[in-house]
Formats: sequence, structure tokens, C-alpha cells
Amino acid sequence: MKKVWQECIECHSTYDADVIKYKCDCGGLLEVRIDLESLDGISWERFRSRSFNVWRYFELLPFEVGDSTVSLYEGGTPLYKCERLGKWLGAKDFYIKYEGMNPTGSFKDRGMCVGITKALKLGVKGVACASTGNTAASLAAYSARARIPCIVIVPKQTVALGKLFQAIMYGAKVIRLDGTFDEALSLVWKVVDEVGIYLLNSINPWRIEGQKTVAFEITDQLGKVPRYVALPVGNCGNIAAAWKGFKEMEVVGLTDCVPSMVGIQSEGASPFVDLVKNGLETLRPVEAPNTIASAIRIGKPVNWKKALLAVKESNGLVAKVSDAEIIEAQRMLASLEGIGVEPAAAASVAGVKKLIENGEIDADETIVCICTGNMLKDPNPELIKGLEPIDVAPDLDLIRNIFTSLLNQ
Ligand code: F0G
Repeated sequence: MKKVWQECIECHSTYDADVIKYKCDCGGLLEVRIDLESLDGISWERFRSRSFNVWRYFELLPFEVGDSTVSLYEGGTPLYKCERLGKWLGAKDFYIKYEGMNPTGSFKDRGMCVGITKALKLGVKGVACASTGNTAASLAAYSARARIPCIVIVPKQTVALGKLFQAIMYGAKVIRLDGTFDEALSLVWKVVDEVGIYLLNSINPWRIEGQKTVAFEITDQLGKVPRYVALPVGNCGNIAAAWKGFKEMEVVGLTDCVPSMVGIQSEGASPFVDLVKNGLETLRPVEAPNTIASAIRIGKPVNWKKALLAVKESNGLVAKVSDAEIIEAQRMLASLEGIGVEPAAAASVAGVKKLIENGEIDADETIVCICTGNMLKDPNPELIKGLEPIDVAPDLDLIRNIFTSLLNQ
């Protein structure tokens, strides 16, 4: 039997794996712990004999052989070497880990397969989340797969159309809140225990267990640990998850070093970057966060303490980028490399560009940017301003003239 438990990251109190809790009694964040020392038979060779997806690394996941797991074949996403984009950034050895290739088009699926598997094991009667959009889409799909009732709550004014469409189509009950994501999460959190529903936001430590596999995959694909791993930061779960993955690989002897974690936020929603940059003791929430990258339009990230540990322990970096920089990076990813990402995902690339320009990232080292979500999720006309299509009448001469002039441009 694998020894698995939940532990507070602050006071280190422990709880049984089957206790439903989203925070320690002391108020600290919980993480899932696996007795890594007791695991045997872990090797890259063994992993590589299996299919390339989240479950390839089964020993490092908190389940037993024979447990029934819920899957839509998540993970196993491409790692693209990007020379043209690298040149634009000034980076020599630059890669994109393209999480937009997951079943619902974002990295959330890595965590949701584990979260929903856990929900089934616990026998909960329903699941819920607050979401800027992607968590809702992912939870909706996995609860459909597992046949568990699902309620999601999203901010009405800012949720991206594609994500809302996904959640509805997968059969979730969708609530649109006239308010922010932070308000949505605080409200849903207050009612879940009362009504007996299981919360699957990233405050739920089981989600993080699935999301940590991105670190395993990057190392597996690259054949080494990169020097830097950059990703967009919203509710601060994913940077902590990836860091947990890198640390665990080192503990079990799969690797002998770790990368520096690089967290990027948008200027209008940057409480975590401000916390790190200003060396604050505690997070100062942003009351009215605002950015075109609606996925990370978050003013009060609940996992900030885990993310802070990730940046500190990894000797990491943070940066904030403007909406204009995000849009530019999104266009560059698409037009230079054919990689279609949503604005939040492009923030990681915009941030790396800035950090290279400032001399904070060594451009000669290997850099991996995690692009967290697919371009198709957010068909916002603002994003293609100045690139609008040419509207024409069905006239042969007109079409011929336009074709000729476009080719000669
Ligand atoms: N990138 C994308 C595309 C996201 O959807 C999110 C978070 C993040 C980055 C940030 O990750 O929150 O773990 O720091 N989206 C959540 C949601 C909040 O509801 O879909 P984080």
C-alpha cells in the first residue's frame, strides 16, 4: 500500500487521505503527501514503457494499482522547440509546453482527472467550482464522464465565450455571477459543506496532484530539467503544482536538479507579483482586477502561500505584463510558430521576453514556457483588432484584384 495523507504546509498537522478538508484547522493550505521514500521501481525506463499521458507516472500519483480512475486521456501534450519565437525573445533554447492540446483545451484536465477520481472514491453526491472559465469547462467534462452532478459559477461579465459554451454543453448547471471570480469562489466555498457538495477549485489539494505531472512530462520530453519554467499565475495553484512535481522527481532520484519557477501576471491583476517584488509578508488583494486575459483576472489568489514557497525555494522570478504585451505575444505564438493560445497562456511568453530584456533571465539557458490554454476558447474581437478579415461581394473581378494585390504585398 502506498502511504498517502494530507498535510498543512504551515503547521504540518496531518489528516487522513479521505478527510474532506480544504484548509487545515490552523487556516493553512493543505497538500497531498505520498511517502516517496517507500516507493520502489521508479525509473524513466518504466514510465516510458507506458502511454504518454498523466497516468504514465502512476507511482507518483496518490492512487493504488487497481483503483478505477476517470480519464479522457489528458496530458501527453506536445513540447515544441520554437526557434523563430526564441529569436524574437532573444532566447537560444526555447520551448513551449502546449497545454491547449488537453481534452478540454487547458491544463485543468490534468488536475480534474485526479480530482474527479478522488470525488468518486469519496462517494460525494456532487461537485462544484468557481471559475474564470477553464476550470468550469474541465470540471463539467470530467463530471459528465464520471456521471456526477456538477455546478459551476462564473463571472458573468468576463467569462470567455468558448469556456461558457463548453461548461453548458458538457451538462453542468451553470450559474453566472454578477461579480468577480474572487467573489464567486468565496461564495461557493461558504456553501459547499452545508449542501454536501465537493469543491474542486485548486484549493483542493488533489487537483494539484494531477497538475504536477506537467513537470514530469517536460523533463521526460526534454531529457533533462530546464533552467527556467515560466507560467501564467492566477489563483496560484499551477505554479505550486509544477514546482511540487519538480521537487518530487528530485526526491525519488529521477533528476538531480530543479528549475527556477517564473510566475507571470497581468498588470491589472498582479497581487502575487507585487507580493514577491515588494517582499510583503502577506498578500494585498486587488479589489477590481482587470485584464484582457480573463482566465487570470483574479485579485485574491487563494494559493498564494504555496506559490510564494515555489518562487522562494526555486530561486524563481516574477514579472507583470501589459495587455498590449500579452496580445503581441499571442499573435507571435500563432503567426511565428502556429501555436494557438488564449491570452492568459501568452502572458508567460510576454513575461519571459521582459525578463530577458531586463537581464533577469539568462537567455543562453534552456527555457520552457507553459502555455496553459487553447486559442479557441476566447474568440474575443479585441484580440484581432487591426487584423480584421476583408469583406467582399461575390464578384469575380473584385476577388481576382484582391488576390493579386494580397500576393504582391
Ligand atoms: N492559465 C489559464 C488558461 C487559466 O485558466 C488559469 C486559471 C491560469 C493560467 C492560472 O492558473 O489559477 O493555477 O494560477 N484559471 C482558473 C479557472 C482560475 O477558473 O479556470 P492558477
